[in-house]
Amino acid sequence: MRLANRRYTGAKTRLLKQIDVVIRESFDYSKAHNLSFFDVFAGTGVVSEYFMEKPQFGRFVMNDFLDSNFAIYQAFFAQDCFNIDKLKEIQAYFQHLDSKTLEQNYYSEHFGGKFFSHNDALIIGEIREQLDKLLQSRQISQKEFYVLLASLLYSSDRIANTVGHYDAYRKNISLQDRFIYELIEPIKSNAKIEIYKEDSNALAKEFVGQKEHIDIAFIDPPYNSRQYSRFYHLLETLATNTKPKLYGVALKPQPQNISRYCKVEAKEAFKDLIENLAKVSKVLVVTYNNTCNANVRSNVRLKDKEIKDILEPVGKISLYEFDYKAFSSGKSSFKNHKERVFLCQI
Ligand SMILES: C[S@@+](CC[C@H](N)C(=O)[O-])C[C@H]1O[C@@H](n2cnc3c(N)ncnc32)[C@H](O)[C@@H]1O
Repeated sequence: MRLANRRYTGAKTRLLKQIDVVIRESFDYSKAHNLSFFDVFAGTGVVSEYFMEKPQFGRFVMNDFLDSNFAIYQAFFAQDCFNIDKLKEIQAYFQHLDSKTLEQNYYSEHFGGKFFSHNDALIIGEIREQLDKLLQSRQISQKEFYVLLASLLYSSDRIANTVGHYDAYRKNISLQDRFIYELIEPIKSNAKIEIYKEDSNALAKEFVGQKEHIDIAFIDPPYNSRQYSRFYHLLETLATNTKPKLYGVALKPQPQNISRYCKVEAKEAFKDLIENLAKVSKVLVVTYNNTCNANVRSNVRLKDKEIKDILEPVGKISLYEFDYKAFSSGKSSFKNHKERVFLCQI
Protein backbone atom coordinates (compact mmCIF):
# COMPACT_ATOMS: atom_id res chain seq x y z
CA MET A 1 0.00 0.00 0.00
CA ARG A 2 1.25 3.42 -0.95
CA LEU A 3 0.93 6.71 0.86
CA ALA A 4 -1.90 8.02 -1.37
CA ASN A 5 -4.04 4.87 -0.98
CA ARG A 6 -6.13 6.57 1.63
CA ARG A 7 -9.45 8.36 1.80
CA TYR A 8 -8.87 11.67 3.53
CA THR A 9 -10.95 14.83 3.55
CA GLY A 10 -9.15 17.72 1.87
CA ALA A 11 -6.20 15.61 0.61
CA LYS A 12 -4.54 17.40 -2.30
CA THR A 13 -3.81 14.22 -4.26
CA ARG A 14 -5.54 15.59 -7.37
CA LEU A 15 -4.15 19.10 -7.07
CA LEU A 16 -0.42 18.35 -6.91
CA LYS A 17 0.46 19.40 -10.46
CA GLN A 18 -1.49 22.63 -10.11
CA ILE A 19 0.29 23.46 -6.85
CA ASP A 20 3.60 22.83 -8.61
CA VAL A 21 2.63 25.08 -11.55
CA VAL A 22 1.65 27.89 -9.19
CA ILE A 23 4.93 27.73 -7.30
CA ARG A 24 6.99 27.62 -10.50
CA GLU A 25 5.17 30.61 -12.00
CA SER A 26 6.40 32.99 -9.39
CA PHE A 27 9.44 31.18 -8.10
CA ASP A 28 11.61 29.44 -10.64
CA TYR A 29 13.11 26.64 -8.60
CA SER A 30 14.50 24.70 -11.56
CA LYS A 31 18.09 25.85 -10.96
CA ALA A 32 17.85 25.92 -7.18
CA HIS A 33 19.22 23.26 -4.91
CA ASN A 34 18.73 22.11 -1.35
CA LEU A 35 15.36 23.89 -1.07
CA SER A 36 13.42 23.45 2.15
CA PHE A 37 9.70 22.69 2.17
CA PHE A 38 7.53 23.08 5.27
CA ASP A 39 4.26 21.10 5.05
CA VAL A 40 2.48 22.97 7.84
CA PHE A 41 -0.77 20.93 7.87
CA ALA A 42 0.57 17.81 6.17
CA GLY A 43 -2.59 15.57 6.40
CA THR A 44 -1.87 12.48 4.28
CA GLY A 45 1.63 13.74 3.41
CA VAL A 46 1.04 13.49 -0.35
CA VAL A 47 2.21 17.04 -1.03
CA SER A 48 5.58 16.44 0.63
CA GLU A 49 5.86 13.11 -1.18
CA TYR A 50 5.33 14.86 -4.53
CA PHE A 51 8.05 17.48 -3.99
CA MET A 52 10.41 14.89 -2.50
CA GLU A 53 10.76 13.43 -5.98
CA LYS A 54 12.27 16.70 -7.21
CA PRO A 55 16.05 16.86 -6.85
CA GLN A 56 15.97 20.59 -6.06
CA PHE A 57 14.39 19.87 -2.68
CA GLY A 58 16.74 18.79 0.11
CA ARG A 59 14.81 19.29 3.33
CA PHE A 60 11.23 18.60 4.42
CA VAL A 61 9.47 19.57 7.62
CA MET A 62 6.18 17.70 8.02
CA ASN A 63 3.66 18.53 10.71
CA ASP A 64 0.15 17.49 11.72
CA PHE A 65 -1.30 17.28 15.21
CA LEU A 66 -3.01 13.89 14.76
CA ASP A 67 -1.33 10.83 16.30
CA SER A 68 -2.36 8.64 13.36
CA ASN A 69 -0.78 11.01 10.84
CA PHE A 70 2.40 11.19 12.91
CA ALA A 71 2.67 7.38 12.95
CA ILE A 72 2.03 7.29 9.19
CA TYR A 73 4.80 9.85 8.48
CA GLN A 74 7.23 7.94 10.69
CA ALA A 75 6.38 4.78 8.76
CA PHE A 76 6.59 6.19 5.25
CA PHE A 77 9.12 8.99 5.56
CA ALA A 78 11.58 8.41 8.45
CA GLN A 79 14.74 7.10 6.80
CA ASP A 80 15.79 4.74 9.63
CA CYS A 81 16.61 1.20 8.56
CA PHE A 82 14.26 -1.72 9.00
CA ASN A 83 14.35 -5.43 8.31
CA ILE A 84 11.86 -6.16 5.54
CA ASP A 85 12.17 -9.94 5.94
CA LYS A 86 11.26 -9.67 9.58
CA LEU A 87 8.28 -7.45 8.71
CA LYS A 88 7.09 -9.94 6.10
CA GLU A 89 7.32 -12.76 8.63
CA ILE A 90 5.22 -10.77 11.10
CA GLN A 91 2.78 -9.91 8.32
CA ALA A 92 2.38 -13.60 7.45
CA TYR A 93 1.78 -14.41 11.11
CA PHE A 94 -0.86 -11.66 11.40
CA GLN A 95 -2.52 -12.80 8.18
CA HIS A 96 -2.98 -16.27 9.65
CA LEU A 97 -4.62 -15.16 12.89
CA ASP A 98 -7.85 -17.07 13.36
CA SER A 99 -10.59 -15.00 14.98
CA LYS A 100 -12.15 -18.18 16.46
CA THR A 101 -9.14 -18.60 18.74
CA LEU A 102 -9.09 -14.98 19.95
CA GLU A 103 -10.57 -13.54 23.12
CA GLN A 104 -12.69 -10.39 23.15
CA ASN A 105 -10.64 -7.18 23.17
CA TYR A 106 -11.28 -3.43 23.37
CA TYR A 107 -11.70 -3.14 19.60
CA SER A 108 -14.09 -6.06 19.19
CA GLU A 109 -16.15 -4.92 22.18
CA HIS A 110 -16.60 -1.38 20.91
CA PHE A 111 -16.31 -1.50 17.14
CA GLY A 112 -17.28 -5.09 16.27
CA GLY A 113 -20.52 -5.23 14.25
CA LYS A 114 -20.30 -1.46 13.75
CA PHE A 115 -17.22 -0.07 12.04
CA PHE A 116 -15.92 -3.61 11.32
CA SER A 117 -17.33 -7.12 11.34
CA HIS A 118 -16.92 -8.74 14.73
CA ASN A 119 -14.19 -11.11 13.47
CA ASP A 120 -12.26 -8.29 11.78
CA ALA A 121 -12.42 -6.16 14.95
CA LEU A 122 -11.09 -9.12 16.99
CA ILE A 123 -8.11 -9.46 14.65
CA ILE A 124 -7.44 -5.70 14.49
CA GLY A 125 -7.43 -5.52 18.30
CA GLU A 126 -5.19 -8.56 18.61
CA ILE A 127 -2.65 -7.13 16.16
CA ARG A 128 -2.65 -3.77 17.95
CA GLU A 129 -1.88 -5.46 21.28
CA GLN A 130 0.87 -7.56 19.75
CA LEU A 131 2.54 -4.52 18.20
CA ASP A 132 3.00 -2.94 21.64
CA LYS A 133 4.38 -6.23 22.99
CA LEU A 134 6.82 -6.63 20.08
CA LEU A 135 8.14 -3.11 20.66
CA GLN A 136 8.36 -3.48 24.44
CA SER A 137 10.26 -6.76 24.15
CA ARG A 138 12.56 -5.11 21.56
CA GLN A 139 11.78 -7.71 18.93
CA ILE A 140 11.13 -4.81 16.57
CA SER A 141 12.70 -1.34 16.33
CA GLN A 142 10.76 1.90 16.61
CA LYS A 143 10.80 2.27 12.80
CA GLU A 144 9.55 -1.30 12.34
CA PHE A 145 6.82 -0.60 14.89
CA TYR A 146 5.64 2.42 12.89
CA VAL A 147 5.67 0.50 9.60
CA LEU A 148 3.58 -2.27 11.17
CA LEU A 149 1.26 0.24 12.86
CA ALA A 150 0.72 2.30 9.69
CA SER A 151 0.04 -0.98 7.88
CA LEU A 152 -2.66 -1.74 10.46
CA LEU A 153 -4.12 1.77 10.10
CA TYR A 154 -4.23 1.53 6.29
CA SER A 155 -5.52 -2.07 6.27
CA SER A 156 -8.30 -1.23 8.76
CA ASP A 157 -9.28 2.09 7.18
CA ARG A 158 -9.59 0.45 3.77
CA ILE A 159 -12.34 -1.93 4.88
CA ALA A 160 -14.09 0.18 7.54
CA ASN A 161 -17.85 0.40 7.30
CA THR A 162 -17.93 4.16 6.73
CA VAL A 163 -18.38 6.71 3.97
CA GLY A 164 -14.71 7.64 4.37
CA HIS A 165 -14.61 9.08 7.88
CA TYR A 166 -15.73 7.89 11.29
CA ASP A 167 -18.52 10.37 12.07
CA ALA A 168 -20.91 7.47 11.59
CA TYR A 169 -21.02 3.88 10.40
CA ARG A 170 -23.53 2.53 7.90
CA LYS A 171 -26.37 0.70 9.59
CA ASN A 172 -28.66 -2.04 8.30
CA ILE A 173 -26.02 -3.72 6.19
CA SER A 174 -24.56 -7.13 6.84
CA LEU A 175 -20.85 -6.79 7.58
CA GLN A 176 -18.52 -9.23 5.83
CA ASP A 177 -15.09 -10.31 7.11
CA ARG A 178 -12.83 -8.33 4.80
CA PHE A 179 -9.73 -7.51 6.79
CA ILE A 180 -6.39 -8.37 5.17
CA TYR A 181 -3.21 -7.19 6.86
CA GLU A 182 -1.10 -5.61 4.09
CA LEU A 183 2.23 -3.84 4.53
CA ILE A 184 2.71 -0.22 3.52
CA GLU A 185 5.61 0.67 1.20
CA PRO A 186 7.99 3.10 2.95
CA ILE A 187 9.43 5.89 0.78
CA LYS A 188 13.17 6.15 0.10
CA SER A 189 14.58 9.63 -0.05
CA ASN A 190 17.93 11.41 0.22
CA ALA A 191 16.28 14.49 1.64
CA LYS A 192 16.51 15.43 5.30
CA ILE A 193 13.05 14.82 6.72
CA GLU A 194 11.83 16.21 10.04
CA ILE A 195 8.52 15.04 11.47
CA TYR A 196 6.48 16.96 14.04
CA LYS A 197 3.19 16.40 15.86
CA GLU A 198 2.50 19.90 17.07
CA ASP A 199 -0.04 22.64 16.83
CA SER A 200 0.96 24.48 13.65
CA ASN A 201 0.87 27.92 15.26
CA ALA A 202 3.06 26.78 18.15
CA LEU A 203 5.56 25.21 15.74
CA ALA A 204 5.73 28.32 13.53
CA LYS A 205 6.40 30.39 16.65
CA GLU A 206 9.18 28.02 17.74
CA PHE A 207 10.75 28.34 14.28
CA VAL A 208 10.81 32.12 14.63
CA GLY A 209 12.59 31.74 17.97
CA GLN A 210 15.14 29.39 16.38
CA LYS A 211 15.64 31.75 13.39
CA GLU A 212 14.77 28.95 10.94
CA HIS A 213 15.05 29.38 7.15
CA ILE A 214 12.29 27.86 5.04
CA ASP A 215 12.07 28.31 1.27
CA ILE A 216 8.45 27.24 0.75
CA ALA A 217 5.82 26.99 3.48
CA PHE A 218 2.78 25.07 2.23
CA ILE A 219 -0.30 25.96 4.26
CA ASP A 220 -3.40 23.80 3.85
CA PRO A 221 -5.53 24.26 6.96
CA PRO A 222 -8.99 22.75 7.56
CA TYR A 223 -11.67 24.85 5.80
CA ASN A 224 -14.80 24.26 7.79
CA SER A 225 -16.19 23.33 11.19
CA ARG A 226 -15.53 19.60 10.81
CA GLN A 227 -12.74 18.63 13.17
CA TYR A 228 -10.23 16.09 11.80
CA SER A 229 -9.68 14.57 15.23
CA ARG A 230 -13.42 13.79 15.40
CA PHE A 231 -13.64 12.57 11.79
CA TYR A 232 -10.73 10.15 12.21
CA HIS A 233 -11.20 9.35 15.92
CA LEU A 234 -11.01 5.59 15.36
CA LEU A 235 -7.59 5.87 13.69
CA GLU A 236 -6.46 8.06 16.58
CA THR A 237 -7.64 5.44 19.08
CA LEU A 238 -5.85 2.73 17.12
CA ALA A 239 -2.65 4.80 16.80
CA THR A 240 -2.29 5.49 20.52
CA ASN A 241 -3.99 2.32 21.85
CA THR A 242 -4.82 4.17 25.05
CA LYS A 243 -8.30 2.55 25.04
CA PRO A 244 -10.24 5.69 25.95
CA LYS A 245 -13.83 5.66 27.21
CA LEU A 246 -16.08 6.13 24.17
CA TYR A 247 -19.30 8.11 23.80
CA GLY A 248 -22.31 8.34 21.49
CA VAL A 249 -23.41 6.34 18.49
CA ALA A 250 -20.15 6.94 16.61
CA LEU A 251 -18.10 5.79 19.66
CA LYS A 252 -15.87 8.83 19.93
CA PRO A 253 -13.48 9.53 22.82
CA GLN A 254 -13.44 12.86 24.70
CA PRO A 255 -12.47 15.66 22.30
CA GLN A 256 -8.78 16.38 21.88
CA ASN A 257 -6.69 18.09 19.21
CA ILE A 258 -9.49 20.51 18.49
CA SER A 259 -8.42 22.89 15.73
CA ARG A 260 -8.92 26.63 15.97
CA TYR A 261 -9.14 26.61 12.16
CA CYS A 262 -12.54 24.91 12.44
CA LYS A 263 -13.92 27.51 14.81
CA VAL A 264 -14.92 31.18 14.75
CA GLU A 265 -11.39 32.13 15.77
CA ALA A 266 -9.99 30.73 12.48
CA LYS A 267 -9.13 34.21 11.22
CA GLU A 268 -7.17 35.08 14.34
CA ALA A 269 -5.30 31.75 14.21
CA PHE A 270 -4.51 32.20 10.50
CA LYS A 271 -3.20 35.75 11.02
CA ASP A 272 -0.91 34.65 13.84
CA LEU A 273 0.40 31.73 11.75
CA ILE A 274 1.06 33.83 8.64
CA GLU A 275 2.85 36.56 10.59
CA ASN A 276 5.21 34.02 12.13
CA LEU A 277 5.77 32.01 8.94
CA ALA A 278 6.52 35.22 7.03
CA LYS A 279 9.45 35.82 9.40
CA VAL A 280 11.14 32.54 8.46
CA SER A 281 9.97 31.76 4.89
CA LYS A 282 10.59 33.05 1.36
CA VAL A 283 7.32 31.89 -0.20
CA LEU A 284 3.97 31.06 1.39
CA VAL A 285 1.53 28.86 -0.54
CA VAL A 286 -1.98 28.75 0.90
CA THR A 287 -4.73 26.47 -0.40
CA TYR A 288 -8.31 27.11 0.54
CA ASN A 289 -11.68 26.48 -1.07
CA ASN A 290 -14.71 28.61 -1.64
CA THR A 291 -17.53 26.32 -0.53
CA CYS A 292 -20.49 28.37 0.62
CA ASN A 293 -24.28 28.20 0.51
CA ALA A 294 -23.89 24.55 1.37
CA ASN A 295 -24.66 22.73 4.57
CA VAL A 296 -23.61 25.25 7.26
CA ARG A 297 -21.03 22.86 8.74
CA SER A 298 -19.33 22.66 5.32
CA ASN A 299 -19.10 26.43 4.85
CA VAL A 300 -15.62 27.86 4.84
CA ARG A 301 -14.28 29.61 7.91
CA LEU A 302 -12.24 32.25 6.08
CA LYS A 303 -13.41 34.48 3.25
CA ASP A 304 -11.11 35.30 0.31
CA LYS A 305 -10.91 38.91 1.38
CA GLU A 306 -9.87 37.92 4.89
CA ILE A 307 -7.08 35.72 3.53
CA LYS A 308 -5.91 38.52 1.21
CA ASP A 309 -6.01 41.11 4.00
CA ILE A 310 -3.80 38.87 6.14
CA LEU A 311 -1.34 38.01 3.35
CA GLU A 312 -1.03 41.46 1.76
CA PRO A 313 0.98 43.14 4.54
CA VAL A 314 3.62 40.36 4.48
CA GLY A 315 4.31 39.96 0.73
CA LYS A 316 3.27 40.13 -2.92
CA ILE A 317 0.26 37.92 -3.54
CA SER A 318 -1.25 36.16 -6.56
CA LEU A 319 -4.42 34.06 -6.55
CA TYR A 320 -5.00 30.96 -8.70
CA GLU A 321 -8.25 29.02 -8.97
CA PHE A 322 -8.89 25.42 -9.96
CA ASP A 323 -12.00 23.31 -10.29
CA TYR A 324 -11.99 20.56 -7.77
CA LYS A 325 -14.48 18.02 -6.55
CA ALA A 326 -15.68 19.31 -3.20
CA PHE A 327 -15.89 17.27 -0.09
CA SER A 328 -19.58 16.57 0.40
CA SER A 329 -21.38 14.62 3.09
CA GLY A 330 -23.96 13.85 0.42
CA LYS A 331 -26.62 16.24 1.67
CA SER A 332 -25.45 19.48 0.15
CA SER A 333 -25.07 20.71 -3.38
CA PHE A 334 -21.85 22.44 -4.36
CA LYS A 335 -22.07 24.74 -7.32
CA ASN A 336 -18.97 26.39 -8.77
CA HIS A 337 -16.77 24.76 -6.23
CA LYS A 338 -13.23 26.04 -6.68
CA GLU A 339 -9.98 25.27 -4.94
CA ARG A 340 -7.89 28.40 -4.49
CA VAL A 341 -4.14 28.66 -4.23
CA PHE A 342 -2.74 31.91 -2.84
CA LEU A 343 0.90 32.51 -3.46
CA CYS A 344 2.67 35.07 -1.33
CA GLN A 345 6.28 36.05 -1.99
CA ILE A 346 7.89 37.62 1.02
C1 LIG B 1 -6.84 20.08 4.72
S1 LIG B 1 -6.01 18.90 5.72
C2 LIG B 1 -4.41 18.82 4.95
C3 LIG B 1 -4.41 17.91 3.77
C4 LIG B 1 -3.04 17.67 3.17
N1 LIG B 1 -2.49 18.84 2.52
C5 LIG B 1 -3.09 16.52 2.19
O1 LIG B 1 -2.92 16.75 0.97
O2 LIG B 1 -3.35 15.39 2.62
C6 LIG B 1 -5.68 19.79 7.19
C7 LIG B 1 -4.85 19.03 8.23
O3 LIG B 1 -4.52 19.92 9.29
C8 LIG B 1 -4.48 19.22 10.51
N2 LIG B 1 -4.66 20.26 11.55
C9 LIG B 1 -5.77 20.99 11.82
N3 LIG B 1 -5.53 21.93 12.76
C10 LIG B 1 -4.22 21.79 13.10
C11 LIG B 1 -3.37 22.48 14.00
N4 LIG B 1 -3.83 23.49 14.73
N5 LIG B 1 -2.10 22.08 14.08
C12 LIG B 1 -1.63 21.04 13.35
N6 LIG B 1 -2.37 20.36 12.47
C13 LIG B 1 -3.67 20.73 12.33
C14 LIG B 1 -5.59 18.19 10.40
O4 LIG B 1 -5.33 17.07 11.22
C15 LIG B 1 -5.55 17.85 8.90
O5 LIG B 1 -4.79 16.68 8.66
